[in-house]
Amino acid sequence: MAPVPLIPARSVRQRVRSLARRISSDHRGEPLVMLVLMDGAFCFVADLMRLMHVPDVRLHFVRASSYGSSTVSSGAVTLSQMPDLSGCRVLVVDDILDTGRTLARAVAACAGAASVRTCVLLDKPARRVPGGLERADYVGFTIADAFVVGYGLDHDGRYRHLPDVCTLEQAAKPA
Ligand code: IMP
Ligand code: MG
Repeated sequence: MAPVPLIPARSVRQRVRSLARRISSDHRGEPLVMLVLMDGAFCFVADLMRLMHVPDVRLHFVRASSYGSSTVSSGAVTLSQMPDLSGCRVLVVDDILDTGRTLARAVAACAGAASVRTCVLLDKPARRVPGGLERADYVGFTIADAFVVGYGLDHDGRYRHLPDVCTLEQAAKPA
């Protein structure tokens, strides 16, 4: 499998900057807790948080796991230990909204928060299932149903380091 650029790093940077601007203006002057779903969101949140202008931000990292193959997740999503979010304004951040199960689970786990919003770099609406989160509040790019890697997203642990968001395609066989 060979990674083929889909969204170049420069476009990712521009889009993350504009998301940061919107989030900052929507949370002006309010303390914010960013609940970050690991591992895939690590590049996205590192760039996003440094471009935001919100005076009081706390970050909590939560590991979401779903069981299944490397490209197809099963239905069951488990979350590592959640912090106490009572009364907090929460922004759940993930790399990609696919079936929507992970974000639905994460939002449900924010019980007691004053507000919960969701932010993803990528959205694949064609993949949504019943019971999954239908839409995120902040979306970087809406993409077609293709498996993507790079900018934090992986396939079997590989390709997270790539600066572009890429699709994975079968390498052409040598003639
Ligand atoms: P969902 O629960 O199906 O929405 O899946 C969300 C999780 O699946 C994301 O946090 C990613 O970790 C992973 N995922 C879904 N689609 C892709 C993809 O195209 N590339 C890499 N990881 C993906
Ligand atoms: Mg993930």
